[in-house]
Amino acid sequence: MHVLIINGSPRVKAFSNTDKILEQFTKGMAENGTTFEQYEVSDKKQWDAMRKAFAENNNILIALPLYVECIPGLLIEFLETVEKKADDTRLAFILQGGFAEGIQLRCGEEYLKILTERLGCTYAGTLVKGDNFSIRFFEGEKRDKVTAPYAAMGRRYAQDGGFDSEECRKFTGPEVFPAPVRLLVGFMFKTLAKKGFRSMATGWGCTKPLDYKPYM
Ligand SMILES: Cc1cc2nc3c(=O)[nH]c(=O)nc-3n(C[C@H](O)[C@H](O)[C@H](O)COP(=O)(O)O)c2cc1C
Repeated sequence: MHVLIINGSPRVKAFSNTDKILEQFTKGMAENGTTFEQYEVSDKKQWDAMRKAFAENNNILIALPLYVECIPGLLIEFLETVEKKADDTRLAFILQGGFAEGIQLRCGEEYLKILTERLGCTYAGTLVKGDNFSIRFFEGEKRDKVTAPYAAMGRRYAQDGGFDSEECRKFTGPEVFPAPVRLLVGFMFKTLAKKGFRSMATGWGCTKPLDYKPYM
């Protein structure tokens, strides 16, 4: 099998978490001889080649982050330029995000099914996974801890041609955190995380409080 992979993140490759996920995913995927070509939607110079590859390939995998509960606009902008397919192209997705609970990615997942139909493709499933905020801030073992499990999913994709398996469904992790964890996370956001965001903003030269509302 040969797979066209599109990284749908608007972030340039060097800083893209999706890219680091794909690094591990494709390692596992290539083990059974599956080949692939990968493009980045963030690099508009690749769009012509990507459009051609979209027309020519019938196994396509789009990996994308959730941005403000939505599919990145740049990816949609690109997909608006491709020809609707009329062959039996199988389209699968890796939908990943920062927050850990699976539930907040489900609306995006439903939209990807509609998108597949609009592109004239056959839906081959979505691998859904949150908890990926940290990837780009880590190196070495710490990064591997988050990204290495994607290699097993790559193996599975190469075997099944999609993500319609119990193993892939379980990969999402908890749909919703139990109540005590939610309380703890809420508390941490109001205290520790708030302090962290404030010092980050100060580091970037922000002089106003984070809840500053100049237009109120
Ligand atoms: C502007 C922006 C909006 C985001 N919105 C969400 C969101 O709604 N839900 C979520 O789980 N993660 C959200 N994230 C986190 C990203 O999905 C996460 O960090 C992802 O791994 C980024 O992948 P990338 O580096 O390849 O773009 C957001 C990140 C940014 C920068």
